[in-house]
Parts: sequence; structure tokens; C-alpha cells
Amino acid sequence: TLGQFTSTAKRVPSVRTDLAGVFSTALRTAFPNVDIQPAVAATNNRDHGDYQCNNAMALFGRMKGKEGAPKNPREVATAILNALPDTTAIDGTPTLAGPGFINIKLSSAWLSERIQILVKQRAVVDFSSPNVAKEMHVGHLRSTIIGDTIARTLEFCGVDTLRINHVGDWGTQFGMLIQHIAETRPGGLQGTTTEEVSDLQTLYKASKARFDAEEDFKARAREAVTRLQSGDPEFLETWKRICEASRNEFDAIYHRLDVHILWRGESWYNPRLTPLVEELIERGIAEESEGAKVITVEGLKTPLMIRKSDGGYGYGTTDMATLAQRIHDEKAEWLIYVTDEGQSGHFKLVFGAGKRAGIIPAKNPPRIDHVGFGLVLGQDGKRIRTRDSGAAVRLVELLDEAKARCAASIKERQETTIERGGEELSAEEMENISSVMGYGAVKYADLKNNRATNYKFNFDEMLDLKGNTAVYMLYAHARIAGIIRKSNKDIKEVAQTAHISLDHASERALALHIVRFTEMLEDTLVELAPNRITEYVYELSNYFNTFYVGCKVLGEKEEDSRLLLCEATAMIMRQCFQLLGIKPLYRI
Ligand code: ARG
Repeated sequence: TLGQFTSTAKRVPSVRTDLAGVFSTALRTAFPNVDIQPAVAATNNRDHGDYQCNNAMALFGRMKGKEGAPKNPREVATAILNALPDTTAIDGTPTLAGPGFINIKLSSAWLSERIQILVKQRAVVDFSSPNVAKEMHVGHLRSTIIGDTIARTLEFCGVDTLRINHVGDWGTQFGMLIQHIAETRPGGLQGTTTEEVSDLQTLYKASKARFDAEEDFKARAREAVTRLQSGDPEFLETWKRICEASRNEFDAIYHRLDVHILWRGESWYNPRLTPLVEELIERGIAEESEGAKVITVEGLKTPLMIRKSDGGYGYGTTDMATLAQRIHDEKAEWLIYVTDEGQSGHFKLVFGAGKRAGIIPAKNPPRIDHVGFGLVLGQDGKRIRTRDSGAAVRLVELLDEAKARCAASIKERQETTIERGGEELSAEEMENISSVMGYGAVKYADLKNNRATNYKFNFDEMLDLKGNTAVYMLYAHARIAGIIRKSNKDIKEVAQTAHISLDHASERALALHIVRFTEMLEDTLVELAPNRITEYVYELSNYFNTFYVGCKVLGEKEEDSRLLLCEATAMIMRQCFQLLGIKPLYRI
């Protein structure tokens, strides 16, 4: 795909361009009064070197006849050679050939460093990770949105990124679910279909109620877990159906949010658990504690449980196996886990135990980050709940409501637009705009917060036409697109002919902010803080507004220059939208 192509291109920067930089310095030093572009090309014959600089001949021609001019092109070449700055790129001394070619050989160390970048740098981002048969709640929304933006930023920077959905598909909840199905379905477990278990909420509620109320059902549910984990075919079959039903629901949400992620649940690591735990016991890393096996970590009060007293494995065991798989099999140099802040203790234990066990090597360890985030609160400042049932808010409902509210407000605005004789949006456009805005607003409202803090979920705020919201940003982008459209010019053609001048202070301020895009990317990855991106794009639109207030664009003599500034702003905005997982709108 094109995306792969461009990110590879970024990781293999042009040697020719870099050498041109080196020779440009040499040319300016040797001939400060001559304005000439460096001419660097790959050699036709590799025996002569890897690259050559061909400037000497033309330069000689230009200086000929003037006072103090060199006698021949070779003399020019020698002057360039002597002015060559220190660089690790070139091996040995460049040689002079023919009438005045300068041949250079690249240093192998420098060359290998470049190739290394191409094959290095793999990151694993573990995010979203909902639990099967349970509703995907707002906490998972945060993980999905923050994780997706971190992954998109890494990908944009050319890092080979593995996006993993560590779905909770192997927990104890399956015991009660399957046992309940076995006891209530007329035909027992045999031949259970995905459709039959698709109403997972009801199924979960019913079996949980029995689990809490009936002692003997609880006992049978516990036995069922063991049967499932030891591979009973009928139990496994039903488990698979439940996972499928859950997956269909999750996938619908990922589709709406445009999130792509590899489904690799806890069960995937199952075959690795017993060998790992046995090895850890044998090596004396795991010790006995009240019938269970645990790993203690210096400085932490509670140990990491890796085998329960009944022989079962838990969250800690899978995460140890996961750590080993990602470091040793995936060869990841950067591991990122995106979960609520409440799990930071768990991850400290896992990483500490991983170090003790040597799973995380002492030499050249990978970078490992737990990216924690705060709670989503309701207006009352408490964990967000639905009005009627008081249950955790369902994700789908939030998305539906955001979209519906956007549709309503766009309709309202449309009416005024039409009254004023403006263009009417088609039903298709309305549908597209309201979902782009609605989902974009939910994402943006989440990402703009410092991830570590709790935030209040507020529809009115996130759909505000002014202020730091996706809606404001989308309108800003559409407005810029409108300016370019109204010029009736082909912007690419303007770019070929016009020169951007930054005479007005607000033009310069905007330009300066635009070039700081890369610094923003660095900050985002150093801190793993997506709010760096939203802050940047919000400031960008503010700089643009100041520019637009101070500088008329259409009909001015600076029109072309300013149109190009508009286009550059819109391009960078779209790039930020891309990182935030928001689609741009051109006409609202
Ligand atoms: N399923 C877990 C939850 O809902 C999150 C899993 C995070 N990833 C991990 N490797 N532990 O809280």
C-alpha cells in the first residue's frame, strides 16, 4: 500500500540528498561568491566509487575569463575537495577522476546504520482488550482510542507496529456461562450456535445471578472452568461460539471507529502457560505461598500470582507468557500497554517479575511502557452510569447519541443555509458528516485530556462549535478548503509557480507553528501523550484564525502566497486528523 511505501521511504532517507548537503557546504566554502546547486549522482561504474560530485566542469565554465579564475576543472575540483567538511558518511579520501569528477565511497559503517533502521524498531501496542461476554464499556473506549492514536503515530514515524487486542477470552466467567447454557438449553451444549448465544448481556446477567445465589451452581461453574481449560471438546465448542458472538459485537464498534487491531486473546497463550510456570518453579524464581506459586518482586508488597492453589492460571500468568512472546518471538523493542491507571500495580509486578526471570534481558532491554489513563466520569463527578439502570454506560449508545446530536445540529444549520440561498447537502453527505463529526467528537474529547486524569463526559462540551473540539476543528478545515475552492485555482498549479512570502507577522507565526509539527510528534512519542496532538492542532487553527483576520486572501495581490499558506495549514490539519483517527470534511 501507499502508506507502507511512504513510511519505508522515510526510513530510507536519500543518500544523494544527504551528500548534496555535504557538497553544498564545500561549494559555499570554496567559492563563496558563486551560487550553484550541488550536483551529486550515483556513479555509473561502481569501480569508480559509489557517488560522484560533478560540479567542477560547470563551475569552471562560469568562472572562466574572470579574474583569478581556476586554470582548469580539475583545479576547481581540488578546491571543492579541500573544502569538504568532516563527515562519517564518506570512507577515506575522495578521489579526482577525468576532467574533474570527485568520486566518493560511502563508509560501510554509515551505510549499515541506515539499513539497520529499516529492519529495526518493532513496537507492540496492546490496547482495547475488552472481555468476552461482557459489555465493552467506556474504559475500553479510552484504551481503544488512546492506543489507536499511539499506534498511528508510531506507524507514521515508520515503526513496524503490531497492534494487539489482548481480549479477555479465558477468564473464570466462562465456567458459569457454559454451565448455565448446559443446564438450561434443551439439547445441552451439543450444537450450540453463535446466534443462540448472541444475546450475551442477558446470558451473562442470568448466569451471574445464579452464580451469586446458588452455592451448588457456583461449585459446578468452577468445575466447568477446569473442564474447559483442560480441553473438553463440547465445552471448547460452546466457548468458541461465545467468543464469536462477542467478537461480532466488538468488530461492529471497531468498524465505526475505524480501528484495526489483531485479535489475540488470552487463550492464545494457553499452550505456553504450563511450560513457563514449570520452568519458573524449577529455576526457583516462583515460590510456594499458601498452596499457590508466586513471584516476589523487590520493593513491591504483594507478589505476582502465577499459579493458584487449585492449579489454575490467572491474569498474571498470561501476562508473563505474553511478555516472553512479545520480546522473544515478536522481537519487539518497544512494548506498550494501554489500560486504566488502576492496573499500574499489576504491570509493575509483571515487569518486575519479568526482569527477575530474565524474560526482560538485562542487556539491551526493550523500552516498556504502561500507558495508564483515568476514569470517564458522569456529570455528577462519579463513574459514568446510565440514567435508568445505573449500569456502566454502553459504548454503542454513546456513539449513537453523539451521531444523532450532530445530525440534528447540522439539519438546523442547513435550514438557515438554505434560507440564505446556500447549497443543500444530500442525504448521503448528511449521513457521512454526522458520523464523522459524532465519532470524531467522542475521540477528540477523550484524547485532548491529559490521559492520566479523570474526565467528565459531556456531550454539549464535545459538540461545541467553538473551543477545543473536533467539531470546531472540522469546521476550521472545511472553511480553509472552502477558501481554496472559491479561488477557482488549481492549488497544485499555484504551488508550482507562486512563492510564499511571510511579510505579515501573523503569516510568519502560522508558518512557524506548521514547521513545529515534527517536534510535536517527538513529544507525543516521548510522553506517549496524544493530547500533544490535539493541543497542536488546536493552536494551529488559532494561528490560522489570527492570520485570516489580519490577512485577506482572495482578491489580494498576495492571493497566491496566502492560498499556499492555507493549503499547508489544511494539509497539516489533515495529518493531525489522521493521527487522531478522524476523517476530514471538505464541505459542511
Ligand atoms: N482485558 C483487560 C481489561 O479489560 C485488559 C488487558 C490489558 N492487556 C494486558 N496484556 N493485560 O481490563
